[in-house]
Amino acid sequence: MAAPDSNSPQPLPGHIAIIMDGNGRWAEANGYPRHQGHRAGVKSTRAVVEAVAEKGIKALTLFAFSSENWSRPSEEVSSLMSLFFEVLQREVDALHENGIQVRFVGARNELSNRLQKRLQAAEELTANNDGMQLVLAVAFGGRWDIVQAACKLAKRVEAGQLTAGDIDEQLLADELSLAGMPAPDLLIRTGGERRISNFLLWDMAYSELYFTDRLWPDFNSDDLDLAINFFAGRERRFGQTGDQVAGRTEATAGD
Ligand code: IPE
Ligand code: IPE
Ligand code: MG
Repeated sequence: MAAPDSNSPQPLPGHIAIIMDGNGRWAEANGYPRHQGHRAGVKSTRAVVEAVAEKGIKALTLFAFSSENWSRPSEEVSSLMSLFFEVLQREVDALHENGIQVRFVGARNELSNRLQKRLQAAEELTANNDGMQLVLAVAFGGRWDIVQAACKLAKRVEAGQLTAGDIDEQLLADELSLAGMPAPDLLIRTGGERRISNFLLWDMAYSELYFTDRLWPDFNSDDLDLAINFFAGRERRFGQTGDQVAGRTEATAGD
């Protein structure tokens, strides 16, 4: 595909989701223990949050810790939890000053009480900000999210507020963690793997997928621009034909 013309306005993604992978391999390659890789990853995270917000992109969702990451060695899990706690304390004021609204998605009840309190405090502090929405997925899994949504719908059926036949895509989507947000337009995964690893399974149905070998601690604003340029070059058809999308043929049902 031809490179997008740099003189014409580029369609920016409204919502970017990132699987921040490769911290452990970065540490190994540099002769450090894995936890140093996670610390180095925090620096990339800060820089990317700033760069995405500066571009005027409305939402950024970051995969920080998956449901499956609980099965890592206990020292790594506890050092990651301490790091989240420390980073939240350090960064939340700056996020707030920049008008960013912070939200957490995931199985909060699996986190320590003190971390849950800190997450809640960050959400409350930034709740009325009208800048970029920053969603941090911690103890999150796409399957977990669909199951918790199904469970909420089942409870409404049990309570007689709904019948099973009422359930449609919109009702289920309304119970998912990212309810009310536009779906991610662009998914970036660093670290070389070409897989979803149980991230936003429902929401990524039509996301454009961008994979890079760059390890997360090395990912910088130039890499972000490459991903955004890739996005600008995609034709998003959502099941229609290219002619329909270009307006050369009328669109029919489903519009
Ligand atoms: C991503 O980096 C961070 C988390 C999953 C918490 P990894 O720790 O998975 O790094 P690699 O994949 O082992 O290099
Ligand atoms: C995905 O990375 C989860 C996060 C980046 C938080 P993993 O490193 O856990 O994924 P797998 O195990 O390689 O699929
Ligand atoms: Mg990994």
